[in-house]
Amino acid sequence: MESQPSVSSSDIVVTGDRPTGPLHLGHYAGSLTTRLRLQHLCRQYILIADLQALTDNAGAPARVADHVLEVALDYLAVGIEPGRSTIALQSAIPELAELTILLLNLVTVARLERNPTIRDEIRQRGFARDIPAGFLMYPVSQAADIAGFRATVVPVGADQLPMIEQSNELVRALNRLAEREVLVEARPLLSATQRLPGLDGKSKMSKSLGNVINLTASPEELRDRVKRMYTDPGHLRVEDPGQIEGNTVFAYLDAFDPDAEEVAALKQRYRRGGLADSVVKQRLATLLEALLAPIRARRAELASRRHQVADIVDAGTQVARAAVAQVLGDVREAFKLRREVRGAG
Ligand code: TRP
Repeated sequence: MESQPSVSSSDIVVTGDRPTGPLHLGHYAGSLTTRLRLQHLCRQYILIADLQALTDNAGAPARVADHVLEVALDYLAVGIEPGRSTIALQSAIPELAELTILLLNLVTVARLERNPTIRDEIRQRGFARDIPAGFLMYPVSQAADIAGFRATVVPVGADQLPMIEQSNELVRALNRLAEREVLVEARPLLSATQRLPGLDGKSKMSKSLGNVINLTASPEELRDRVKRMYTDPGHLRVEDPGQIEGNTVFAYLDAFDPDAEEVAALKQRYRRGGLADSVVKQRLATLLEALLAPIRARRAELASRRHQVADIVDAGTQVARAAVAQVLGDVREAFKLRREVRGAG
């Protein structure tokens, strides 16, 4: 991995999640742990990106709406602190929508179609030629999310790097137009853990494929899911040598087991033969239960006072609105827009 730029107190971080389902262990390993660390280092905005979720869920708006508060509960349950991180609802910040409209003037359709993340997603979703316009332009909306807060750091998985590149292009285009630095470029902070595979070992984690462990999984569910995790299909008898590559259980141990030395020893024994899948799975299940138990308890407690959680999101949204409003004002000025015609000369 490339060397990571360090984060300082003057940095501004923006991240977000589409509220289309409960957050799972992939979110935890990939981005939530980073946010937990960053909230102690600098200002951090976390967007519940419901507008972005609509760009490929317009047929199921209730699904998006129903998960807004759920995602907020997940954030707070894992330890995101409203005093340190600003949790905000994207669609309740109309300034972001206006900023998106303005930035759309600075990008071509051809450039949007070249975005590698968009190309992948178009293929995955089978849109073919019937691409919703809103979907094609969501990288511009995400650029507004980033530049609208003058974010300097965006923690991402490798698949989101093209989004930051596209955002920075828009920032440069706007600054060229304004002939001054109105918006600032952001740098990616690549997540340290590799993307976790789905439990089936075949595809990436996906709520719809059901190959994930949600942060809300019950102890029984957790045990059951770990038991059914994909290992090495060639490892039939305990004494057979087993393969680590592509073995989901070891991928999860790598991500969650704090005892890296013990994991290395286990891998060695597994490769040699003589280590049962069930033993490795038992270790993983115990470990994950220890991780999820306090999250589960805290979430249940928070869920009993949902209105307070809603208040936290609403308050965060107001703070976020004020921040974006300032930036939007500067961008409107760059485009010579005015709030009233009278007196403008
Ligand atoms: N595209 C991100 C995802 O699918 C969510 C997101 C929305 C985001 N706005 C953002 C991420 C701004 C980083 C910065 O997970």
